[in-house]
Amino acid sequence: MTAVNFAASSPSRTAARVRLRPTMTSDLEFVLSLEQDPENLAFITPWERIQHEAAVRFPDFRHFIIEGGEGLDAVGFLIFIGCRSQHQSLELKRMVVATKGAGYGRAALRVAKKVAFDDLGAHRFWLDVKARNTRAKAFYDSEGFVVEGQLREAVKLAEGFDSLIVMSMLKPEFTGRRGLGLELRA
Ligand SMILES: CC(C)(COP(=O)(O)OP(=O)(O)OC[C@H]1O[C@@H](n2cnc3c(N)ncnc32)[C@H](O)[C@@H]1OP(=O)(O)O)[C@@H](O)C(=O)NCCC(=O)NCCS
Repeated sequence: MTAVNFAASSPSRTAARVRLRPTMTSDLEFVLSLEQDPENLAFITPWERIQHEAAVRFPDFRHFIIEGGEGLDAVGFLIFIGCRSQHQSLELKRMVVATKGAGYGRAALRVAKKVAFDDLGAHRFWLDVKARNTRAKAFYDSEGFVVEGQLREAVKLAEGFDSLIVMSMLKPEFTGRRGLGLELRA
C-alpha cells in the first residue's frame, strides 16, 4: 500500500497537510456520500457503487482517499484513469473534497501531479471541467493546467447543456514548474 505525504501551500493560505492512500471497499460509503452531496453533484457525474468497486480493483485505475487535517481523516477522494496507457496520457477523472476552501484540494492536486508524473510515468496529465464550474477551472488554471479546448455542450444537465473544458499539463511543463519551486520535490 502506498501513501504519499505532502503539504502544499499557496501565497494566500497556510499549507494544508494531506496524504493519499488507496481507497478500500470500506471507504465507498464515504465516496458515494460525497458524490451525492448537492454541493458536488452539480459539478460531477456520479458513479454507481459497482463502478467505484471496479475502479478500486482495475489496474488501469487508481482510486485514492485524500486524508487531511490534524487527525489525517478522510477529507475527499480522487481517481486516475489511464495508468497503463501506452500513450502515457493519464486522466484525473474526478476529485472531490468535503470541506471546500481549506486548501485540501490544492494540496491533493500537488500530490496527484507528483504521483502522475514521478510514479506513474505520465507524459500528459489531463482532465475536463464543466464550464459552469468556474471555481474548479480557476483552481486548475492556477495549478498550471493549460486549456486544450472545449467539448461544446457535451453534458446534459437538468438546467440544459454545459460544455466540458479539457485541460492538461505535459511532463516538461511539470518539470519546469518544479524548477521554479511550484511543485513538490521529487
Ligand atoms: C474543486 C475542489 C476539488 C477544490 O478543492 P478545495 O479544497 O475547495 O480548494 P482549495 O481550498 O485548495 O482552493 C483552491 C482554489 O480554489 C479556489 N477556491 C477555493 N474556495 C473558493 C471559493 N469559495 N470561491 C471561489 N474559488 C474558491 C481558489 O482559486 C483557491 O485558490 P487559493 O488557494 O489561491 O485561495 C473542491 O472545491 C470540490 O470538491 N468541488 C466540488 C467537486 C468538483 O468540482 N470537483 C472538480 C471537478 S473537475
